Amino acid sequence: MELNIAVLSGDGIGPEVTNQAIKALNAIALEFNHNFKFKTADVGAVAIDNCNDPLPKDTLSLCKTSDAILFGAIGHPKYDNNPSAKVRPEQGLLKLRKELGLYANIRPVKAYQTLLDKSPLKKHIIEGTDISIYRELTGGIYFGEKYLSEDENVASDLCMYSREEIERITHLAFKAAQNRRRKVTLVDKANVLESSRLWRKVVTEVAKDYKDVELDFLFVDNAAMQMILNPKQFDVVLTENMFGDIISDEASVIGGSIGLLASASVGDKYAMFEPIHGSFPQATGKDIANPIASILSAAMLLEHFELFNEAKLIRMAVEKSLKLDITTPDINTKYDNITTSRVGEFIEDFILNPNDTNMNFTNIHLGQSTII
Ligand code: IPM
Ligand code: MG
Repeated sequence: MELNIAVLSGDGIGPEVTNQAIKALNAIALEFNHNFKFKTADVGAVAIDNCNDPLPKDTLSLCKTSDAILFGAIGHPKYDNNPSAKVRPEQGLLKLRKELGLYANIRPVKAYQTLLDKSPLKKHIIEGTDISIYRELTGGIYFGEKYLSEDENVASDLCMYSREEIERITHLAFKAAQNRRRKVTLVDKANVLESSRLWRKVVTEVAKDYKDVELDFLFVDNAAMQMILNPKQFDVVLTENMFGDIISDEASVIGGSIGLLASASVGDKYAMFEPIHGSFPQATGKDIANPIASILSAAMLLEHFELFNEAKLIRMAVEKSLKLDITTPDINTKYDNITTSRVGEFIEDFILNPNDTNMNFTNIHLGQSTII
Protein backbone atom coordinates (compact mmCIF):
# COMPACT_ATOMS: atom_id res chain seq x y z
CA MET A 1 0.00 0.00 0.00
CA GLU A 2 1.15 3.51 -0.75
CA LEU A 3 0.50 6.10 1.94
CA ASN A 4 1.40 9.76 2.04
CA ILE A 5 1.78 10.71 5.67
CA ALA A 6 2.00 14.31 6.87
CA VAL A 7 4.26 14.57 9.91
CA LEU A 8 3.46 17.46 12.24
CA SER A 9 5.78 16.78 15.12
CA GLY A 10 5.21 20.18 16.76
CA ASP A 11 6.71 21.31 20.03
CA GLY A 12 8.74 20.06 22.97
CA ILE A 13 9.24 16.31 22.89
CA GLY A 14 6.99 16.03 19.81
CA PRO A 15 9.86 15.61 17.31
CA GLU A 16 11.75 13.09 19.50
CA VAL A 17 8.81 10.76 19.98
CA THR A 18 7.46 11.14 16.45
CA ASN A 19 10.83 10.11 15.05
CA GLN A 20 10.48 6.76 16.82
CA ALA A 21 7.01 6.25 15.32
CA ILE A 22 8.49 6.94 11.89
CA LYS A 23 11.21 4.35 12.53
CA ALA A 24 8.50 1.81 13.34
CA LEU A 25 6.50 2.71 10.24
CA ASN A 26 9.57 2.51 8.01
CA ALA A 27 10.37 -0.91 9.41
CA ILE A 28 6.78 -2.02 8.75
CA ALA A 29 7.00 -0.71 5.18
CA LEU A 30 10.16 -2.73 4.62
CA GLU A 31 8.82 -5.88 6.22
CA PHE A 32 5.44 -5.83 4.45
CA ASN A 33 6.47 -4.19 1.20
CA HIS A 34 4.54 -0.97 1.58
CA ASN A 35 5.50 2.47 0.40
CA PHE A 36 5.09 5.09 3.13
CA LYS A 37 6.14 8.63 2.22
CA PHE A 38 6.58 11.23 4.94
CA LYS A 39 6.38 15.00 4.53
CA THR A 40 6.96 17.30 7.48
CA ALA A 41 5.36 20.63 8.31
CA ASP A 42 5.32 23.12 11.19
CA VAL A 43 2.57 23.46 13.76
CA GLY A 44 2.28 25.05 17.22
CA ALA A 45 4.88 27.21 18.95
CA VAL A 46 7.54 26.36 16.39
CA ALA A 47 5.20 27.58 13.62
CA ILE A 48 4.52 30.79 15.56
CA ASP A 49 8.28 31.33 15.83
CA ASN A 50 8.79 30.66 12.12
CA CYS A 51 5.81 32.47 10.63
CA ASN A 52 3.64 33.88 13.41
CA ASP A 53 0.86 31.38 12.72
CA PRO A 54 0.29 28.18 14.78
CA LEU A 55 -1.26 26.52 11.72
CA PRO A 56 0.34 27.90 8.56
CA LYS A 57 -1.62 27.54 5.31
CA ASP A 58 1.01 25.20 3.83
CA THR A 59 0.67 22.87 6.79
CA LEU A 60 -3.09 22.70 6.43
CA SER A 61 -2.89 22.06 2.71
CA LEU A 62 -0.28 19.33 3.23
CA CYS A 63 -2.70 17.66 5.68
CA LYS A 64 -5.54 17.91 3.21
CA THR A 65 -3.54 16.28 0.44
CA SER A 66 -2.11 13.50 2.61
CA ASP A 67 -3.70 10.14 3.44
CA ALA A 68 -3.06 10.52 7.15
CA ILE A 69 -1.41 12.81 9.66
CA LEU A 70 1.02 11.85 12.36
CA PHE A 71 0.98 14.47 15.07
CA GLY A 72 3.52 14.98 17.87
CA ALA A 73 2.74 17.45 20.63
CA ILE A 74 1.84 21.07 21.06
CA GLY A 75 2.48 23.77 23.65
CA HIS A 76 5.24 25.91 25.13
CA PRO A 77 5.62 27.32 28.67
CA LYS A 78 6.17 30.85 27.38
CA TYR A 79 2.48 30.86 26.35
CA ASP A 80 1.17 28.89 29.36
CA ASN A 81 2.41 31.61 31.68
CA ASN A 82 1.09 34.42 29.57
CA PRO A 83 -2.73 34.46 29.64
CA SER A 84 -2.89 37.57 27.49
CA ALA A 85 -1.02 36.03 24.53
CA LYS A 86 -3.31 36.43 21.53
CA VAL A 87 -1.63 33.79 19.39
CA ARG A 88 -1.22 30.42 21.16
CA PRO A 89 0.25 27.11 19.97
CA GLU A 90 -2.89 25.17 20.98
CA GLN A 91 -4.92 27.19 18.48
CA GLY A 92 -3.01 25.33 15.76
CA LEU A 93 -4.21 21.94 16.96
CA LEU A 94 -7.78 23.10 17.55
CA LYS A 95 -7.98 24.70 14.12
CA LEU A 96 -6.55 21.56 12.55
CA ARG A 97 -9.19 19.39 14.25
CA LYS A 98 -11.96 21.75 13.16
CA GLU A 99 -10.74 22.32 9.58
CA LEU A 100 -10.29 18.60 8.97
CA GLY A 101 -13.58 17.71 10.65
CA LEU A 102 -11.92 15.30 13.09
CA TYR A 103 -14.95 14.97 15.32
CA ALA A 104 -14.15 11.68 17.03
CA ASN A 105 -11.08 11.22 19.19
CA ILE A 106 -10.59 7.58 20.12
CA ARG A 107 -8.36 6.98 23.14
CA PRO A 108 -7.75 3.36 24.14
CA VAL A 109 -6.75 2.75 27.77
CA LYS A 110 -5.29 -0.60 28.69
CA ALA A 111 -3.61 -2.01 31.78
CA TYR A 112 -0.62 -3.87 30.39
CA GLN A 113 0.02 -7.06 32.33
CA THR A 114 3.73 -6.26 32.53
CA LEU A 115 3.11 -2.78 33.95
CA LEU A 116 0.56 -3.60 36.65
CA ASP A 117 3.04 -2.75 39.38
CA LYS A 118 3.98 0.59 37.80
CA SER A 119 0.59 2.21 38.27
CA PRO A 120 -0.01 4.09 41.52
CA LEU A 121 -3.34 2.22 41.62
CA LYS A 122 -3.64 -1.23 43.17
CA LYS A 123 -3.05 -4.17 40.88
CA HIS A 124 -6.37 -5.90 41.59
CA ILE A 125 -8.23 -2.72 40.67
CA ILE A 126 -6.61 -2.14 37.30
CA GLU A 127 -5.87 -5.68 36.10
CA GLY A 128 -7.87 -6.44 32.97
CA THR A 129 -8.87 -2.83 32.28
CA ASP A 130 -9.61 -2.26 28.61
CA ILE A 131 -11.45 0.97 27.80
CA SER A 132 -12.02 2.84 24.58
CA ILE A 133 -12.80 6.51 25.17
CA TYR A 134 -14.77 8.25 22.41
CA ARG A 135 -14.22 11.94 22.98
CA GLU A 136 -16.13 14.45 20.83
CA LEU A 137 -13.42 16.70 19.39
CA THR A 138 -14.79 19.58 17.35
CA GLY A 139 -17.60 21.01 19.47
CA GLY A 140 -18.57 22.03 22.98
CA ILE A 141 -16.85 24.54 25.19
CA TYR A 142 -13.59 24.36 23.22
CA PHE A 143 -15.24 25.90 20.19
CA GLY A 144 -18.17 27.91 21.59
CA GLU A 145 -18.26 31.67 21.53
CA LYS A 146 -15.71 33.29 23.83
CA TYR A 147 -16.21 36.55 25.63
CA LEU A 148 -13.98 38.87 27.60
CA SER A 149 -15.44 42.13 28.88
CA GLU A 150 -13.70 45.36 27.96
CA ASP A 151 -12.35 45.85 31.48
CA GLU A 152 -11.19 42.18 31.31
CA ASN A 153 -12.96 41.31 34.57
CA VAL A 154 -15.65 39.04 33.14
CA ALA A 155 -15.16 36.10 30.76
CA SER A 156 -17.20 33.22 29.39
CA ASP A 157 -16.94 30.19 27.09
CA LEU A 158 -20.10 28.81 25.56
CA CYS A 159 -20.69 25.05 25.52
CA MET A 160 -22.92 24.35 22.54
CA TYR A 161 -23.82 21.06 20.82
CA SER A 162 -26.15 20.21 17.98
CA ARG A 163 -28.05 16.95 17.52
CA GLU A 164 -25.99 16.18 14.43
CA GLU A 165 -22.67 16.61 16.27
CA ILE A 166 -23.83 14.20 18.95
CA GLU A 167 -25.31 11.65 16.57
CA ARG A 168 -22.27 11.12 14.38
CA ILE A 169 -19.84 10.26 17.18
CA THR A 170 -22.50 8.23 18.98
CA HIS A 171 -22.84 5.95 15.96
CA LEU A 172 -19.07 5.41 15.92
CA ALA A 173 -19.04 4.62 19.63
CA PHE A 174 -21.86 2.07 19.36
CA LYS A 175 -20.28 0.41 16.31
CA ALA A 176 -17.04 0.10 18.25
CA ALA A 177 -18.90 -1.39 21.23
CA GLN A 178 -20.43 -4.04 18.96
CA ASN A 179 -16.93 -5.35 18.31
CA ARG A 180 -15.96 -5.14 21.97
CA ARG A 181 -17.86 -5.94 25.18
CA ARG A 182 -21.08 -4.27 24.01
CA LYS A 183 -21.42 -1.53 26.54
CA VAL A 184 -21.44 2.24 26.09
CA THR A 185 -21.24 4.59 29.07
CA LEU A 186 -22.26 8.16 28.36
CA VAL A 187 -20.43 10.56 30.65
CA ASP A 188 -22.19 13.89 31.09
CA LYS A 189 -23.50 16.38 33.63
CA ALA A 190 -27.17 16.09 32.75
CA ASN A 191 -28.26 17.06 36.27
CA VAL A 192 -26.93 20.57 35.62
CA LEU A 193 -26.16 21.26 31.96
CA GLU A 194 -28.68 21.70 29.16
CA SER A 195 -26.11 20.53 26.61
CA SER A 196 -25.69 17.30 28.60
CA ARG A 197 -29.45 16.75 28.59
CA LEU A 198 -29.37 16.97 24.79
CA TRP A 199 -26.56 14.40 24.77
CA ARG A 200 -28.67 12.00 26.90
CA LYS A 201 -31.72 12.42 24.70
CA VAL A 202 -29.88 11.96 21.39
CA VAL A 203 -27.68 9.10 22.60
CA THR A 204 -30.75 7.27 23.98
CA GLU A 205 -32.43 7.59 20.59
CA VAL A 206 -29.39 6.41 18.64
CA ALA A 207 -29.01 3.46 21.04
CA LYS A 208 -32.30 2.04 19.70
CA ASP A 209 -30.42 1.14 16.48
CA TYR A 210 -27.97 -0.95 18.51
CA LYS A 211 -30.14 -3.29 20.58
CA ASP A 212 -27.21 -5.61 21.29
CA VAL A 213 -25.32 -2.83 23.11
CA GLU A 214 -26.09 -1.84 26.69
CA LEU A 215 -26.24 1.91 27.38
CA ASP A 216 -25.33 3.29 30.75
CA PHE A 217 -25.07 6.90 32.05
CA LEU A 218 -22.74 8.48 34.55
CA PHE A 219 -22.38 12.04 35.73
CA VAL A 220 -18.84 13.22 35.06
CA ASP A 221 -17.94 13.74 38.73
CA ASN A 222 -19.02 10.21 39.54
CA ALA A 223 -17.29 8.91 36.39
CA ALA A 224 -14.04 10.52 37.54
CA MET A 225 -14.32 8.58 40.79
CA GLN A 226 -15.39 5.31 39.13
CA MET A 227 -12.47 5.53 36.71
CA ILE A 228 -10.01 4.86 39.51
CA LEU A 229 -12.30 2.90 41.85
CA ASN A 230 -13.42 0.33 39.32
CA PRO A 231 -12.11 0.96 35.80
CA LYS A 232 -12.99 -2.57 34.66
CA GLN A 233 -16.68 -1.63 34.54
CA PHE A 234 -16.02 0.50 31.44
CA ASP A 235 -15.99 -0.68 27.84
CA VAL A 236 -16.69 2.25 25.51
CA VAL A 237 -16.88 5.64 27.23
CA LEU A 238 -18.66 8.27 25.16
CA THR A 239 -18.37 11.90 26.15
CA GLU A 240 -18.18 15.52 25.07
CA ASN A 241 -14.99 17.41 24.34
CA MET A 242 -13.81 18.77 27.69
CA PHE A 243 -15.01 15.89 29.86
CA GLY A 244 -13.14 13.58 27.47
CA ASP A 245 -9.97 15.64 27.78
CA ILE A 246 -10.05 15.38 31.56
CA ILE A 247 -11.24 11.79 31.93
CA SER A 248 -8.63 10.51 29.47
CA ASP A 249 -5.70 12.08 31.35
CA GLU A 250 -7.11 10.58 34.53
CA ALA A 251 -7.49 7.18 32.87
CA SER A 252 -3.86 7.26 31.76
CA VAL A 253 -2.84 6.62 35.38
CA ILE A 254 -4.26 3.11 35.00
CA GLY A 255 -1.65 2.19 32.39
CA GLY A 256 1.19 3.52 34.52
CA SER A 257 2.17 6.49 32.37
CA ILE A 258 0.52 9.07 30.15
CA GLY A 259 3.42 8.30 27.81
CA LEU A 260 1.66 5.11 26.75
CA LEU A 261 -1.62 6.49 25.53
CA ALA A 262 -2.21 6.81 21.81
CA SER A 263 -5.17 8.27 20.01
CA ALA A 264 -6.84 8.49 16.64
CA SER A 265 -8.81 11.56 15.62
CA VAL A 266 -11.13 10.75 12.77
CA GLY A 267 -13.79 12.43 10.69
CA ASP A 268 -15.60 11.58 7.48
CA LYS A 269 -12.63 12.52 5.29
CA TYR A 270 -9.38 12.84 7.24
CA ALA A 271 -7.61 11.03 10.05
CA MET A 272 -4.88 12.13 12.43
CA PHE A 273 -2.94 10.06 14.93
CA GLU A 274 -1.47 11.59 18.06
CA PRO A 275 -0.30 10.70 21.56
CA ILE A 276 -2.60 12.12 24.23
CA HIS A 277 0.32 13.62 26.17
CA GLY A 278 1.52 17.17 25.83
CA SER A 279 4.84 18.69 24.82
CA PHE A 280 6.60 17.90 28.17
CA PRO A 281 8.90 20.96 27.95
CA GLN A 282 11.15 19.89 30.84
CA ALA A 283 12.20 16.81 28.87
CA THR A 284 12.73 18.48 25.51
CA GLY A 285 15.92 17.38 23.79
CA LYS A 286 16.92 15.05 26.63
CA ASP A 287 15.99 11.81 24.85
CA ILE A 288 14.02 10.62 27.88
CA ALA A 289 10.39 11.00 26.79
CA ASN A 290 8.37 7.85 26.34
CA PRO A 291 7.86 7.23 22.61
CA ILE A 292 5.35 4.42 23.06
CA ALA A 293 2.24 6.62 22.80
CA SER A 294 3.53 7.91 19.49
CA ILE A 295 4.47 4.42 18.28
CA LEU A 296 1.03 3.08 19.27
CA SER A 297 -0.53 6.03 17.43
CA ALA A 298 1.31 4.74 14.36
CA ALA A 299 -0.29 1.32 15.01
CA MET A 300 -3.71 3.00 15.09
CA LEU A 301 -2.84 4.66 11.79
CA LEU A 302 -2.16 1.24 10.26
CA GLU A 303 -5.43 -0.12 11.65
CA HIS A 304 -7.27 2.80 10.10
CA PHE A 305 -6.07 1.52 6.71
CA GLU A 306 -6.98 -2.06 7.70
CA LEU A 307 -3.32 -3.07 7.90
CA PHE A 308 -4.12 -5.24 10.90
CA ASN A 309 -1.16 -7.61 10.77
CA GLU A 310 1.18 -4.67 10.52
CA ALA A 311 -0.41 -2.96 13.52
CA LYS A 312 -0.31 -6.21 15.44
CA LEU A 313 3.42 -6.48 14.88
CA ILE A 314 3.96 -2.99 16.28
CA ARG A 315 1.86 -3.90 19.31
CA MET A 316 3.86 -7.10 19.80
CA ALA A 317 7.08 -5.10 19.64
CA VAL A 318 5.75 -2.63 22.22
CA GLU A 319 4.67 -5.43 24.55
CA LYS A 320 8.09 -7.01 24.22
CA SER A 321 9.81 -3.75 25.10
CA LEU A 322 7.59 -3.41 28.17
CA LYS A 323 8.26 -6.97 29.20
CA LEU A 324 12.01 -6.57 28.88
CA ASP A 325 12.10 -3.14 30.52
CA ILE A 326 13.38 -1.52 27.37
CA THR A 327 11.50 1.57 28.42
CA THR A 328 12.09 5.20 29.33
CA PRO A 329 12.51 6.33 32.96
CA ASP A 330 8.81 7.20 33.50
CA ILE A 331 8.02 3.47 33.73
CA ASN A 332 11.43 1.93 34.22
CA THR A 333 12.49 1.05 37.72
CA LYS A 334 15.14 -1.44 36.59
CA TYR A 335 17.41 0.48 34.21
CA ASP A 336 18.00 4.22 34.23
CA ASN A 337 19.89 4.53 30.95
CA ILE A 338 17.27 3.71 28.35
CA THR A 339 16.58 6.59 26.01
CA THR A 340 13.70 7.52 23.75
CA SER A 341 15.71 6.59 20.68
CA ARG A 342 16.84 3.30 22.23
CA VAL A 343 13.22 2.25 22.70
CA GLY A 344 12.55 3.26 19.09
CA GLU A 345 15.52 1.22 17.86
CA PHE A 346 14.44 -1.82 19.83
CA ILE A 347 10.95 -1.66 18.36
CA GLU A 348 12.36 -1.16 14.88
CA ASP A 349 14.67 -4.17 15.34
CA PHE A 350 11.87 -6.34 16.63
CA ILE A 351 9.68 -5.46 13.62
CA LEU A 352 12.48 -6.32 11.22
CA ASN A 353 13.32 -9.57 13.00
CA PRO A 354 10.05 -10.73 14.57
CA ASN A 355 10.79 -14.41 14.20
CA ASP A 356 14.40 -14.25 15.20
CA THR A 357 14.51 -16.51 18.22
CA ASN A 358 18.18 -15.69 18.74
CA MET A 359 17.54 -12.18 19.86
CA ASN A 360 19.84 -11.28 22.66
CA PHE A 361 17.31 -9.71 24.94
CA THR A 362 19.34 -10.10 28.09
CA ASN A 363 21.96 -7.48 27.28
CA ILE A 364 19.83 -5.21 25.23
CA HIS A 365 19.62 -2.48 27.85
CA LEU A 366 23.39 -2.11 27.64
CA GLY A 367 22.96 -0.82 24.12
CA GLN A 368 24.40 -3.90 22.47
CA SER A 369 23.17 -5.32 19.24
CA THR A 370 19.82 -7.00 19.46
CA ILE A 371 20.92 -9.84 17.23
CA ILE A 372 23.58 -12.40 18.05
C1 IPM B 1 -5.34 16.85 24.24
C2 IPM B 1 -4.69 18.14 24.66
C3 IPM B 1 -5.31 19.28 23.86
C4 IPM B 1 -6.78 19.34 24.21
C5 IPM B 1 -4.64 20.65 24.06
C6 IPM B 1 -3.17 20.62 23.77
C7 IPM B 1 -5.32 21.74 23.27
O1 IPM B 1 -4.80 18.34 26.03
O2 IPM B 1 -5.29 16.51 23.06
O3 IPM B 1 -5.90 16.17 25.12
O4 IPM B 1 -7.16 19.94 25.22
O5 IPM B 1 -7.58 18.76 23.46
MG1 MG C 1 -5.61 16.68 27.08
